[in-house]
Amino acid sequence: MENKIFEPKIVAFVCNWCTYAGADLTGTSRIKYAPNVKIVRFPCTGRIDFMLLLKAFGEGADGIIVSGCHPNDCHYTSGNFHARRRWISFRSLLDFLGIDTGRITFSWVSAAEGAKWAALVNDTVSRIKELGPYTDYEKVARYYEEEVNHE
Ligand code: FES
Repeated sequence: MENKIFEPKIVAFVCNWCTYAGADLTGTSRIKYAPNVKIVRFPCTGRIDFMLLLKAFGEGADGIIVSGCHPNDCHYTSGNFHARRRWISFRSLLDFLGIDTGRITFSWVSAAEGAKWAALVNDTVSRIKELGPYTDYEKVARYYEEEVNHE
């Protein structure tokens, strides 16, 4: 008898200077964490187009992490504050599309916080396991296609 355990697919959009370096430190410190995450690196969270979150859901992600430098530590001064503001307005689109905002974790992880990165990934994986697989990906993929590719 097959016993299939749900292993969520998590996509992490991170800034190069803080969270990516923090995730790297997790590895070099040999801190173990859930292997469910694929990291997409940006120069700064301020450069993240939040429509990419929809693209990730449309392509099969079950959960998403967005993480960058702590407030006042952004290497481009205020990119993380821009990202935070964009995230707040983006939430209404998630509501419109029926995506549970619990599927997205917004956090700050510095280059020195390897342990925090591991905990963030583990907590996210646990929460997404409770929520279950994201199943409306075709609807979101269609929306993304119409809104982004047909502009
Ligand atoms: Fe990390 Fe801007 S460089 S959030």
